[in-house]
Amino acid sequence: MRISRSSRLTVVVCAVLVALAAAVPAAASPRVVGGERASIVEFPWVVYLTDATGFQFCGGTVVAATKVLTAAHCMADQRADNLRVVVGREDKQSTDGRVVTATSVQVAKAYRGDPTGGSDWAVITLSRRVNVPPLPLAKDAAVYQTNAMGLVLGWGRTSESGEVSRYLMEASVPLVADATCGKSYQEYRATAMVCAGYAQGGVDTCQGDSGGPLEMNGELVGITSFGEGCARPGYYGVYTRVASYEPLIDELIAAG
Ligand code: ARG
Repeated sequence: MRISRSSRLTVVVCAVLVALAAAVPAAASPRVVGGERASIVEFPWVVYLTDATGFQFCGGTVVAATKVLTAAHCMADQRADNLRVVVGREDKQSTDGRVVTATSVQVAKAYRGDPTGGSDWAVITLSRRVNVPPLPLAKDAAVYQTNAMGLVLGWGRTSESGEVSRYLMEASVPLVADATCGKSYQEYRATAMVCAGYAQGGVDTCQGDSGGPLEMNGELVGITSFGEGCARPGYYGVYTRVASYEPLIDELIAAG
């Protein structure tokens, strides 16, 4: 049978489209959850936290030359002398950047031992200054607009029951209305928290991402705090509402 030039072209175009359709979801699914690799050069202020053995358990954000903001629940039974802050290292298996020790950890005074109670933030003081531009804290409650897109970053699990990531990952998630998030989480408090993610799930932070940033327009608007599983439909990621605590956090930063 003779195949015309135009139908041969159609066959080729279809084959390419099928290949793309197969390749895109496979490449896009298993990251943060539903994210992709991120460059530490683009996000120099994102850090990860390890214990003295090098085990990565949380993330954080450089907010001043000697200060890292993380989640209070990351600091539970964590002594400052056991803590290491890894700055400038996108690939955990590389020796890029530096590992910095901590001199002290200050957990929010109002933190009650459970992230669902709010005040899930803590400030780590580093033993030396780090040479990265700090990410400014959001001060204005007006940044929390429903459906505004935020960026989450971390080295945490790439699926709910999966392994933590070797590489820094990023994902974009929309902020969720307080009333919507309150339906998913009865503990939700709009003064202390902000939710981000999709009703259908699929894109989220996960275990190991806690303490890391939710960034919007060059500001830190949230700290990864908790969630029901990861990326589940009907649930969202819950983040510490940074602007609510900014005066208290700034006080600790200014104290040096
Ligand atoms: N609590 C987790 C941690 O310690 C982070 C959970 C974020 N979960 C979520 N579904 N967004 O790493």
